[in-house]
Amino acid sequence: MNFAAITAVGHFLPEDRLTNAELEQMIDTSDEWIRTRTGIRERRILRDKDKATAYMAARAAENLLKKRGIDASEIDAIIVATVTPDMFFPSTACLVQAEIGATNAWGFDLSAACSGFLFGLSTGAKFIESGRHKKVLVIGADKMSSIIDYTDRTTCVLFGDGAAAVLLEPDSEGYGLIDSIERVDGSNWKMLCMHGGGSLNPPTHETVDQKMHYLRQEGRMVFRYAVEGMADVSAEIMERNGLTGDDIRYLVPHQANLRIIDATARRMGITRDKVMLNIERYGNTTAATIPLCLMDWEKDLRRGDNLILAAFGGGFTWGAAYLKWAYDGKDVAVDTEAEAAASH
Ligand code: ACO
Repeated sequence: MNFAAITAVGHFLPEDRLTNAELEQMIDTSDEWIRTRTGIRERRILRDKDKATAYMAARAAENLLKKRGIDASEIDAIIVATVTPDMFFPSTACLVQAEIGATNAWGFDLSAACSGFLFGLSTGAKFIESGRHKKVLVIGADKMSSIIDYTDRTTCVLFGDGAAAVLLEPDSEGYGLIDSIERVDGSNWKMLCMHGGGSLNPPTHETVDQKMHYLRQEGRMVFRYAVEGMADVSAEIMERNGLTGDDIRYLVPHQANLRIIDATARRMGITRDKVMLNIERYGNTTAATIPLCLMDWEKDLRRGDNLILAAFGGGFTWGAAYLKWAYDGKDVAVDTEAEAAASH
């Protein structure tokens, strides 16, 4: 049997930062409130009005191709997880395909908010496991700043922009995606959504006046569901694969709120040193959080490491994945340009 293994990661982060100190000048908030309630210190913002999600996704893909040393023409399929596509259609995947020159690829966008990357990973894996494809790009990319109301202090402190990509390839030795759980429950959709702009509320002067083109959430309720959902699926995937906290090298959680992550880790019996955390620097980049963690920790990962990926987001959508990491990160060539942008 073929397993779908991640064989490379790539990323793009805009250079501009939005710090808590800057937010203090814009809204009634404080660095102390944001840090203690969320764990966030700063986020990246793509300020260039001519650039959007497809631009970031394409840069992340190019970074990956360079590191893996392959040509874009070798890619069979491109899945872009995003809730901030450049436009309704064509899909972001089409724009990325053209921009990177993936002349032999097909692709599509996947809408599952913060769980988008996980759902994209399990979807992409099916094409590899079935033998249909040899190289599938899964990209998580969101320009959250395009749907955030920067006068609403309950949401604007949380989100940032970014993109990251993984390459899936076949592995016959048991490395790669071992198991995954995907869940949706649309009954509480109103707790986290964007009301305007779609076929229900097409854009009009009125929808714009009512700020329906911005993300809305009931933060406290989302928090409660997220803690329960993420911890439940993480515990379930460990149990059904016979894993304990000791077997796990890293938990790779969606980065929405440090307190949600801590609750998940506690339920899994995992200490903080085994949790990938970069929320402090990037905030919640929605579909990009998990692959951005893999990018940040790539050098530290070894073949055979057990990783649990977990996410919860709007929809509601949530899920977990059990990965046996397929390569030694220390051997990966450094893309100095991209590294410089990340640490800028
Ligand atoms: N600065 C200062 N005060 C604030 C801010 C702010 N930025 N935002 C809210 N407050 C105030 C509120 O108005 C409230 O004041 P009140 O008591 O006078 O009414 C007080 O702080 C407490 O508000 P709560 O909403 O109860 O604060 P909570 O501890 O729940 O934290 C937060 C809010 C951070 C939004 C939290 O609920 C959360 O993280 N929820 C999950 C939402 C989320 O992450 N969504 C992203 C997508 S889904 C996902 O990725 C999981």
